[in-house]
Amino acid sequence: MPAIRVAVAGATGYSGEELIRLLLDHPEVHLTCLAASAKWERPVPASQVFPRFARRLDLAVEALDLPRLAERSDAVFLALPHGKATELVPSLLAAGKRIVDLSGDFRLRDPTLYPQWYQFTHAHPELLTDGRVAYGLTEFHRQEIAAARLVANPGCYATSVLLGVLPLFRAKLLEEAQIIVDAKSGLSGAGRKADETLLFTEMTENLRAYKVNEHQHMPEILQDIERLTGQQASLTFVPQVIPVSRGLISTIYVKTRRSPEEVAAAFEACYPPAQAPFVRVRRGSLPQLKDVVGTNYCDIGIAAHPAGGVMVIGSALDNLTKGAAGQAIQNFNLMHGFSETAGLR
Ligand SMILES: NC(=O)c1ccc[n+]([C@@H]2O[C@H](COP(=O)([O-])OP(=O)(O)OC[C@H]3O[C@@H](n4cnc5c(N)ncnc54)[C@H](OP(=O)(O)O)[C@@H]3O)[C@@H](O)[C@H]2O)c1
Repeated sequence: MPAIRVAVAGATGYSGEELIRLLLDHPEVHLTCLAASAKWERPVPASQVFPRFARRLDLAVEALDLPRLAERSDAVFLALPHGKATELVPSLLAAGKRIVDLSGDFRLRDPTLYPQWYQFTHAHPELLTDGRVAYGLTEFHRQEIAAARLVANPGCYATSVLLGVLPLFRAKLLEEAQIIVDAKSGLSGAGRKADETLLFTEMTENLRAYKVNEHQHMPEILQDIERLTGQQASLTFVPQVIPVSRGLISTIYVKTRRSPEEVAAAFEACYPPAQAPFVRVRRGSLPQLKDVVGTNYCDIGIAAHPAGGVMVIGSALDNLTKGAAGQAIQNFNLMHGFSETAGLR
């Protein structure tokens, strides 16, 4: 079968660069178009933009031009700032492309949530519940993803939290549908754009909370718990930035009277290695960043409170891989009938 012609829009960003890194090793992919903002009106060889791809990639980064993008590709990854995919998706769908969008533009089903959480009014609310659109938490939406034309890839925090709590909701192990999350992310989570608060001098030897209970990943977490289990959960969410370049850990506190063994068994039943190749459950210890950075794994560990009643779940992943480009490729693989692990091992 000939390789799928793939375009990456947002190729110069952190997620775009990670997409290129992974797609170059994908056996079924031929990269054909790399696009970014208008500042790339004069094309620049990708090997100059990213010297690490020299001799591996004979393409230039160009300003995004929708007809050109459509003409050169069968499938498109959109790794653009929030609000931008909404402008492109209707034409790409009409042109018959398969799309994986890494932004939040198509994650929420209720259009009235966009002004509050993403500060824009959705221009195509009819697409949010269109049957061709799937939420891309791979492990829980495989059938929808395989049939979708557009996959809304989940947020990085949302991926770690949902993979860390859905087995508990599914197996009805919680005393209350209440989750408290203390999450810590490396600085690449904010993208490559300049931001004074993320300067080396501000962040080295520092840790800082931001958007406490106001982070845009909160509604997609609650939405997916409700869609998959019918339960309306409450969420306390404290995201923090830490001075590492990549990697994310969500430490999740839940109330349960079940033993750690019962809880671990529920996770293992939900993620058998043959069916969930990228979720690793560990008993007896919480996960650490260095086991997941640069990989597509989400590592989940469980720790009980000695007095009982409270269980601590740790969920660690690389925000640019399982939290972005890697999960996007898992979804691309399902959409095209490839092995879920193609290009990711
Ligand atoms: N970073 C993460 O950990 C992460 C994880 C999951 C999801 N995401 C999501 O993925 C998307 C990309 O995030 P990122 O962190 O990779 O961002 P980023 O590093 O800031 O990169 C943004 C990319 O979009 C391009 N761009 C900006 N405005 C554009 C426009 N008007 N037209 C065309 N291209 C434009 C930029 O190109 P220029 O070089 O021209 O500026 C750059 O290639 C976001 O929606 C983000 O929320 C990110």
